[in-house]
Amino acid sequence: MREHIESLVEYVRYLKELGYEGFPMPAIAAGTEGADARLQSNRALSLKNIQLAVSDCSKCRLKETRTKTVPGEGSHSTSLMFIGEAPGSDEDREGRPFVGRAGRLLTDIIRAMGMSREEVFIANVIKCRPPGNREPGEDEIRACSPYLFDQIDIIRPRVIVTLGKYATATMLGLPPQMRISDMRGKFFSYNGLRVMPTFHPAYLLRNEKDKRLVWDDMKLVLTELGRAAPTTKR
Ligand code: URA
Ligand code: SF4
Repeated sequence: MREHIESLVEYVRYLKELGYEGFPMPAIAAGTEGADARLQSNRALSLKNIQLAVSDCSKCRLKETRTKTVPGEGSHSTSLMFIGEAPGSDEDREGRPFVGRAGRLLTDIIRAMGMSREEVFIANVIKCRPPGNREPGEDEIRACSPYLFDQIDIIRPRVIVTLGKYATATMLGLPPQMRISDMRGKFFSYNGLRVMPTFHPAYLLRNEKDKRLVWDDMKLVLTELGRAAPTTKR
């Protein structure tokens, strides 16, 4: 037993040297028979590990008030990820991201892009609900965002859509005072992946007229993914 633990510690140290942080993705033999299937199952396993770690995480005070953790969901081999801020009350109750009113709007946006929720991956910067839907604290973002970064490293989508200022600021290392209206409509880069900031669906519920701008952003995303934009909008 002790030997096993020592070799596991050694293995984790080795992965750290290779640059892996948090939950490491198992090594993959590329280019060999069945490599793709192995890649898929390794991804699924690594995402499951994150889900488990989140489910009993106590790295910040949000543990005290959450009902369910909301790790994120969707395809582990997708080219498109959506990142929101933090769970609200519906998400906290169900343990799933974007299932309330703003979530229904996000689901509509994804459908309008010619895709389904199951085909993309949807996650938040913060995995537990801030009480009363208050804004997440800097310390909470610092504690929780490594889970998101690990999810991104595992999935390595082609495009990440950041919904609102917290997701955008976290992904691009910016202060949360930046304005989405200055950032949206163009791609940024995160570790070689393309990041498209856009308005948060909760903001769109209050500012209907800006839906058009989000649709412009999603058309750029579809072009980047090599997909044709459906001609009819919803
Ligand atoms: N708003 C978010 O940012 N994330 C959710 O999951 C739901 C609402
Ligand atoms: Fe852990 Fe994140 Fe939940 Fe805080 S918000 S307890 S860091 S999972």
